[in-house]
Amino acid sequence: ANMTCVEALVDARGRGRALGAFNVYTLEGALAVARGAAAARRAAIVQLHPAALDHGGPALLAACRRLADAAEVPLFVALDHCEDPGRIYPHLEAVDHVMADGSRFDVGENERWTAAVAARARAAGVSVEAELGRLAGEEDGLSVDERDARMTDPAIVAAFLARTRVDALAVTVGNVHGAYASRDPDLDWARLDAVRAAAGDVPLVLHGASGLSQRVISRAISAGVCKFNVNTELRAAARAAYAEGGDVLAAAERATSAMAGVVEAKLLAFDAGS
Ligand code: G3H
Ligand code: 13P
Ligand code: ZN
Ligand code: NA
Repeated sequence: ANMTCVEALVDARGRGRALGAFNVYTLEGALAVARGAAAARRAAIVQLHPAALDHGGPALLAACRRLADAAEVPLFVALDHCEDPGRIYPHLEAVDHVMADGSRFDVGENERWTAAVAARARAAGVSVEAELGRLAGEEDGLSVDERDARMTDPAIVAAFLARTRVDALAVTVGNVHGAYASRDPDLDWARLDAVRAAAGDVPLVLHGASGLSQRVISRAISAGVCKFNVNTELRAAARAAYAEGGDVLAAAERATSAMAGVVEAKLLAFDAGS
């Protein structure tokens, strides 16, 4: 692409839009993001959680890179929820963006840890997303219960961003990984506004976008969110497709189409600020 991932986020925000970032685990998932983005004619991000790298290794990452480089829309490759720098540094050549997730630490340690990872990534030309607060819900291989979940504190945002020099900030404002307890979950809009005011131009990221209504998506875009992470809805689509059975190639193709449909629909939903 002739734009960096962060430039694409800022560009989307300027048009009242957001980019979708989609978690994939297999080649079918990666193909689905490329197909869905092409069908929607929108920029997108294909991202791998460390659990996906455990499965597919550098070969899966290379497939994502190759699909991104061949795409006619801007398609970026990211690493999601990395808690171990050892899972980031070997891959810096292959990715555009990485989420360095220090949210398990207290604020001071999150800041020190994130600043160190960010410096190394920046030197390789890779943008970094940090998280302040901690999301509840299921992340692959890691379950964070309500007790350990925390909302982002707007009062610490400006200093954290200045000291870590990260490129994007994931916020915790009532969003959760996985399904929401209510059908039309709401967010803490006052908190999001305060975080935006403190974050200045730094792009805000909303994890846990599966299960959010168009109303909430649009309002979040208007409040400054320009990257939405989607995992659960893609997995559900693939699971349903595989459950229909059939031979390997037919099932894989059905799963790919189902995931591509989710990607396309989400990218169009992320078009509309309110
Ligand atoms: O033609 C469409 C572009 O790929 C749209 O990308 O969502 O960054 O404006 P955008
Ligand atoms: P969902 O599982 O709710 O889609 O969240 C995805 C996510 O935040 C990945 O980082
Ligand atoms: Zn997440
Ligand atoms: Na969710």
